[in-house]
Amino acid sequence: MLSTKVVAAAPAGHTTPLLALLVTETGLPASLRPVDQQTGGAIGRLYGAGDFRGKTDETALFYPEGPAARVLLVGIGRAAADRHAVRRGAAVASKRARTVGVERLSIAIAAEASTLPTTDLAQVITEGLVQGAWFFDGMKQPPAPEDNRPKLAGAELLFANQTAEAEAGHRTGEAIGAAHAAARDLQILPGNVCTPCYVGDTAEALGRQHGFKVTVLDRDALKTEGMGALLAVAQGSAEEPRFIVLEYKGNGSPPVVLIGKGITFDSGGISIKPADRMEDMKYDMSGAAAVLGTFEMLGRLKPKLHVIGLIPSCENMPSATAYKPGDVVKAHSGKTIEVVNTDAEGRVILADALSYARRFKPACVLDAATLTGAVVIALGHAATGLMGTDVALLNELREAGEKSGERVWELPLWDDYRDLIKSDIADVKNSGGRPAGTITGAWFLREFADGYPWAHLDIAGTAYSDRDMPSMVKGPTGVGARLFSEFVLARA
Ligand code: BES
Ligand code: MN
Ligand code: ZN
Repeated sequence: MLSTKVVAAAPAGHTTPLLALLVTETGLPASLRPVDQQTGGAIGRLYGAGDFRGKTDETALFYPEGPAARVLLVGIGRAAADRHAVRRGAAVASKRARTVGVERLSIAIAAEASTLPTTDLAQVITEGLVQGAWFFDGMKQPPAPEDNRPKLAGAELLFANQTAEAEAGHRTGEAIGAAHAAARDLQILPGNVCTPCYVGDTAEALGRQHGFKVTVLDRDALKTEGMGALLAVAQGSAEEPRFIVLEYKGNGSPPVVLIGKGITFDSGGISIKPADRMEDMKYDMSGAAAVLGTFEMLGRLKPKLHVIGLIPSCENMPSATAYKPGDVVKAHSGKTIEVVNTDAEGRVILADALSYARRFKPACVLDAATLTGAVVIALGHAATGLMGTDVALLNELREAGEKSGERVWELPLWDDYRDLIKSDIADVKNSGGRPAGTITGAWFLREFADGYPWAHLDIAGTAYSDRDMPSMVKGPTGVGARLFSEFVLARA
């Protein structure tokens, strides 16, 4: 992960290989006149010529005389920039710095650009820097020495005033940035590397590193525990299933329970998926990655909070031993499930986790899952689908969504939709067909989310991106890690 630090300095006169300046659409800000003078008026000329206006994601890179070898102007859109805009600008800056090939960048935001408190600015700039610098090349041959440009390793946040506030915000941003990066590091790994056992080992390593308790249940333990639903999905695969329990105990209050879907590869099983883009189904463990990322944050910040993480993990494969359409399986809660589509496997494994959660007498339970293709039709890639049973909890999640920049949008969980998952033979069936697919998925989960306030996040549209963006490379987005982090921290 990119290493970041606060430096008590103004941008003008600061020696650096690359100085990034975040500016809004309001013309050359007065606070940047000293830097403009230092660059021989180059910034003023850029604005004057109309070549740069400060629009969102707009950049201008030039090479002035003086202590900054490069200056990168980054537009963050309209005045009074919010957290989202500032974070995105910082991400654009570090992503660009990485491709330019500098070992270090320094970043400052024009004083006029935002009215956010310094603490918030430092937090979201740090998060953005970490986001934009993230990439993965761990499975390629190293580049030839001749095209080996310096690797971006560090970033400085320039705050001439209120350095203590900046330090405090930076500390939070660094921990949340680490959560985000950890989630993406796990998501990107292919299914033959990131197996259920690998997810379990990753959780155990995290627990050892930060000193919290991690328990991993294997197939025999799942049998003893009565997790018939997880075992049913797992039975078609040669990979051993795992059920992972993480416990961060920063105080003795009733815990927040975070559940993440951990399907390390979803072929669809006997109801097999089409070949086109099936490789993306390595991302079907993104909910699990969000939970593990959140525990990385907890381990670093050590807030006074009680948080449990639950990850049901297996592969969904077709084979002679696979579960079949028509099968009826008994979940951990005792309820029976008619499997009408083996590709609706996420809700089946989550059923056991939602039921297992009751033993912790939770304050609330949240689950994150790449659950339905239908949520992509409903909301595209801009928002995570939100559904649940508790109005106050849903509001808290909306709040965390705005703070983290990982926005959520609610879909109605009305009783009318319950009929679609009625089974002729069992308590419930695992698919209601195409209409309102995201809502019927959530309704199925609701059947097992008994005895606590609960909310479900359908991240199928937000967990990965097949397009490169100015603020993020294509691939895993780490969605959920920052959202969960803001949610739990607001309760500390
Ligand atoms: N993992 C998929 C959902 C998914 C789709 C995630 C696209 C990411 C991108 C899930 O297990 C699934 O296959 N859902 C089915 C449910 C249906 C059979 C009721 C779907 O959405 O088609
Ligand atoms: Mn599926
Ligand atoms: Zn799936």
